[in-house]
Order: sequence, then structure tokens, then C-alpha cells
Amino acid sequence: MSDSMRPVKLGVPIDRVDGRLKVTGGAKYAAELPITNPAYAVVVTSTIAKGRVTSIDTAAAERVKGVLAVLTPFNAPKVDVPSPRAQSGGAKGGAMSNGAAGPPARGGAMRIPTVLQSPDVLYNGQPIGLVVADSFEAAVEGAHLVTATYAGERPALDMTSAPTIPPEEVHPLGGERSVVRGDVEGGLRDAAVKIEHEYRTPLENHNPMEVHNTVAAWEGDRLTLYDSTQGIFSVRNTVAKAFGLQPSDVRLVSYFTGGGFGSKGGAWSHQILAAMAARVVKRPVKLALTRRQMFGPVGGRPMTVQRIAIGATRDGTLTAIRHASTSNTSTIEDWVEPATSQTRILYACPNVETSYDLKRLNVGSPTFMRAPGESTGTFALESALDELAYELGIDPVQLRLKNHADRDPSNDKPWSSKSLRECYRVGAESFGWSKRAMKPRSMRDGRWLVGWGMATATYPANRQPAGATARMLPDGTVVVRAGTQEIGCGTYTAMSQIAADILGIPVERVRFELGDTEMPQNPPSVGSMTAASTGSAVYEVATALKAKLASMSNAGESPIATIRRAGGQPVEVTVQSQATPDARQFSMHSFGAVFTEVRVDEELGLVRVPRVVTAHGVGTILNEKTARSQIIGGVVWGIGQALHEETHIDPRTGRYVNAQLDEYLVPVNADVGRIDVHFVDERDPHVSPTGAKGVGEIGITGVAASIANGVFHATGKRLRELPLRVDRVMA
Ligand code: MOS
Repeated sequence: MSDSMRPVKLGVPIDRVDGRLKVTGGAKYAAELPITNPAYAVVVTSTIAKGRVTSIDTAAAERVKGVLAVLTPFNAPKVDVPSPRAQSGGAKGGAMSNGAAGPPARGGAMRIPTVLQSPDVLYNGQPIGLVVADSFEAAVEGAHLVTATYAGERPALDMTSAPTIPPEEVHPLGGERSVVRGDVEGGLRDAAVKIEHEYRTPLENHNPMEVHNTVAAWEGDRLTLYDSTQGIFSVRNTVAKAFGLQPSDVRLVSYFTGGGFGSKGGAWSHQILAAMAARVVKRPVKLALTRRQMFGPVGGRPMTVQRIAIGATRDGTLTAIRHASTSNTSTIEDWVEPATSQTRILYACPNVETSYDLKRLNVGSPTFMRAPGESTGTFALESALDELAYELGIDPVQLRLKNHADRDPSNDKPWSSKSLRECYRVGAESFGWSKRAMKPRSMRDGRWLVGWGMATATYPANRQPAGATARMLPDGTVVVRAGTQEIGCGTYTAMSQIAADILGIPVERVRFELGDTEMPQNPPSVGSMTAASTGSAVYEVATALKAKLASMSNAGESPIATIRRAGGQPVEVTVQSQATPDARQFSMHSFGAVFTEVRVDEELGLVRVPRVVTAHGVGTILNEKTARSQIIGGVVWGIGQALHEETHIDPRTGRYVNAQLDEYLVPVNADVGRIDVHFVDERDPHVSPTGAKGVGEIGITGVAASIANGVFHATGKRLRELPLRVDRVMA
């Protein structure tokens, strides 16, 4: 417990203010919120990946006692959503690239896949029907009785044979498709040492503990959604548009979200289907996806095939980097995994070319997934750097120090803050890196080959405008409100702590409220931007409240006495917070270093990760405990990315084969060894007034490369495709 009723300081590792609620079940997630007379909706999904539903037999479902409605593409109400490309006749460029919702933006509203507006089938597992019933059980039974007939076509499922989308048709997510500085051909030609390899990462799907779920309730033409989301305002805006409403006619409420990791950043089909169903049956409707329905309808990480060429002089100075990434998208939208963006900024190199290409497959639309781009991209880049280090016979840390970028090499701006050298030093010292022999297969422990690998971590420091109100009540309680989300990172705690620190009061005297579009608008909880966005609003509103109370008070008077003397009414202030214009002079990124010990049993093809040491410079730490948890979570996910995770698609049917947690492998406790987390001392006043840069996503970056590099050090075998499965280790 925190030291109760004493003023709390920023950074101190206090327990989560909502911890008790969470462990006792008192924290209410979307579908648990009390609602009068709800009906229950269950989604019916397609069993082919491409083609058309020719008919749907709903008679048996309609006969189930309690079933109220069965919606299909043939009877569903019309809503206003952008047409998927396949439904716009596959027009080149045209309708899709100028869709009504505009191009998808990082952290912005996403396109809505199919919501029963057409019989077209675009992937296996796509919603093609919705059964609404008095009880969840009746809805499940009804959904099992719905049968569809299809006119099927051969789906595109293979990355190798699928044609590359013409570059001019691709949305530029994460910047331009191709970025060049210097003379890459020349730099490669003049290099004394050159390596060129291809790295591959698989499809992955988000598996937050809480499946996507929503409750839709209409009152006349006003809609309230209780939703599991990372972005109440982005979902509100998309749903409002679908039903032809003003955003102010839709209210989004989300007090707790049980993880999202990018898959809950905007609206998907289920929110619209729930609202549609609630209108049809004239009752509130609860809709929760099944675990299997998390594979396809709500995004995932696309496959990447990344080709990297690097040239260097004999002393390890980089002369050129070329990084080209091809990833898959769906036939619904163009979504690019921006896997090459870190390559533009990470090392001082005069000649750099990055580019991406897309292939269109009949799978669910990919989307943001923790450190989208940097997690897959650092696997390739940081593996390639390790390969170069061996070619040159230079220690991997020394090679990176040699090419340290003192300014952002992509635009020559100064960094707002950067502690990467310190991260290498702290991480290496804590790990014991100086005892490492460069030669592979030089360490052994019984039957285990032991290897030490490392990699650089990086993620942008993002900030968006955010508002907040703060009011001091007559009893001295301070209520701070901001329309952000609690997705598990500790937002309630960190925001309460910022306000308490500024006001000089115990955290127990602060009540931070979030998760309602009636509150001041805040950005979605994506892109590691909450600490710098909402955190700045809370910092500024608490500062404004303190100033207002000070201006009202007589000498020596407490705020409670001031309020009493002033008539006993709460004192309230509101702020709108955004980055100062001077922020544009800087390039803003977080950096870190990951050091990993791996053990490999060559006879069984097993890889174990007994020890990971991280050191990150992420600006001011708001709460050392919740920040540490973010990094630990990222490292655990990095272990999963390296060793376990991949979604298998049946190459004939496009079926998601392992769409359950028993077959979709994620790390369990036995897969995770010791994780030592270090934060180097850093404060970044250019990113945010607290000095925080954000810590949500950087933790996964570099981890997979660090493990793969460790496997090379242990075995002498370079594995360039994730995950590092038994068959690949033994091949
Ligand atoms: Mo993060 S992938 O922007 O939720």
C-alpha cells in the first residue's frame, strides 16, 4: 500500500488506485454494467474466405424459444459505412482510396469491415449474421442453427503468389511509401562489407483477456454504447456516422478495458451490429465476441517479408541501409505495417532507403498491434545489425555506439531527449555483457548451449491535444475528469498521482474519472501517448486549480477553509492542453537497449529465455511500478513474438486454424525467466510538462531480435523467420 494520507510525489511506485476494485471484481467492464431488460446478440460467421452468400436459412434459428431477430445481409437495416474495395468492383485506386472515412491514420478511426450490408464474403470468419434473443443461451443456440449457402471463389492466401498492389494505390500510413536520403546504391557499392538478407514475421492476433464486447441502448434517436475500447471518441464518431447521427447524439462509456493492444483503437463491426440489433428489437443489446471471433473481425498483425541490405566500412561505420518491407492487407482496406520507420532514424548513416509494399489477401483486416511497425521492424533491422557485427568482428554494442545518431538523421533535428548511450551502458553493466566472448558456441551449461544477444529498442514519443476539468469539493476532495480510457496500463493511478503531486495532497484525496464522451475530449489510448497527452492535461488542470485556489485564499488558509469562506461551492477549472509550437524543432523518440540470455537444446530444438535485462530512456516516470509493469509486459510479449506466436491460416479455405488460446501459443510463466527493468534518468520537457515520453509500446521493441541474436550466439545458426520454432531451430 502507499503510505496512506501523506502527499504523494510523482514517480513513486504507489499501488494502483483501482487495484482493489479489479481484484475483487468491483471494476465493471462493458458487458457487466447493469442494464435493464437486455437482449443478447451472437454473431454468425462465414465458413468460406471469398465469394458470396447466396442464401441464408434462418427458419430453425427463428423457432428457438426466445429468439427475437435474425439479421442477415438480406434483411439488415442499411447503415452508412465505407464500402470495402471488393464491393466497389475492385476499382483501381478510386472509391477505396478516397473512401468517406478518409485514409486510415495512425491512432485514428479505422474503417469498418462488413456489417451485413452486402452478401460478399471477404475472409473466413467474417460476420454474415446476427442472432438476437432474450437470453445468451437462446442466441447461441440460434446462431448454431443458421445455415448459409455460398458461391465460393478461390481465395488469395499466399504471400508469395499474391500480386503486389500498385504503390500509387496504397495509403501512406506511417509516412511516405518510399523515403530516400543520400545515394544508397553508391553507399552499398563502396562498402567494404555488405550483408543482405530477408526476414519474415507471421500473422498474429491480439488476445487481450477481455474479448471485444459492447452494450447498445437507444433512447429515441440517441444511442449509448458501453464498450470495451481504447478510444471512446473514435468509436463514437464512427458509430454516429454509420447511423446518420451527430457525434453528440452518441455517448460512449468505458470505465475499464481488459486490454486492447491496438485491436480496440477504433470501431469494428460488432459495435455497429449491436446498435443495429438494439434498434430492431427495441431493447438494449449486449454483444460479446467469442475468442474464436477475435481472429479476423477485430484486426491482427500482418505478415511481413523484410529485405535489408547494409554496407559498412571495415571499422564498422555504416555506409548504406536499404530496408524494404512487404506486408499483407485484406480486401477490406489498405493497412500498412510501417516496419521500416525506425530504420530512418535509428543510426547515423548518410545513405538510407526505406519502402513498403502491400499484398492483398482474403484475411481479416490487419491493424495496430503493440508497437505496430517497430516490433516487426526492429526484429529485422536489429538482426541485420547483429549479422553485420559478426561479419566485421565487432562487438554488437560497440557497432551500435559507433553509429549512434546524435541528431535525427532523417531530418537533422535535435532530439528532444535521448539517453541511448546510457541505456547501452546501464543494460550492459547490469547484464554482465563485458564477460561475453564474441565467438558463437562458446558457452555451454550441460546439454544447453548458452548465448547472449542484444538489440536496440525505440518508439516515437507521441502527444495529441487533450482536455481535463478539475474541481475541488468543499471537503477537500479533488475530482479530475478526462475522456481517456483505462486499458490496463494504470491510467487511473498515474493521472491521480500527477494531480496529487501538483496539489501536494494524498492520492486518496484525488478522484480521477475517465471513460465517458461527456467528459473533455482526449485521444485514444494508443501510440503510447496517454502519459504525454492526458498526463499533460491533468498536469495543467491541477496547476490551474492550485493557482485559482491560491488567488482566492487568505494568508495561511487551507483550501477547505477558502472554499467555506467563499460560500461552500466547489471550485472548478478546465483546460485544453496541447504541445507548444517549439516542440516542432525537435525529433521525439524513446530509446532503450535489451540484453538477453538464451539457452538452446539443439537435440530438441528448444529455446529458453532465462534472463532479460532492459534499460530505457522514456522521460519522467510517472509511477515506477506501473511503468515497470509496462516494460515487463512488453518483454513477455517479445518472448512470445520470438518463440511462440503465429496465426495459422488454412491455405485452402482461409480458415483461422488455431483461433483459440490452447493452440494460439503465448508465453506462460514457465516460458518467462528473470526480467530486470532499468529506467535511466531522463526528463523531456519538450514532449510534455511532466517530462514523460510514454512507456506503453517500447517494451516489446528489440526483444525478438535480441533473442534471435542470442540464439545465433548460442548455436551459430541464424534464424531469420519468426517464431523461432522447434523445426526451424533443428533445420
Ligand atoms: Mo497501440 S498498438 O497503438 O494500442
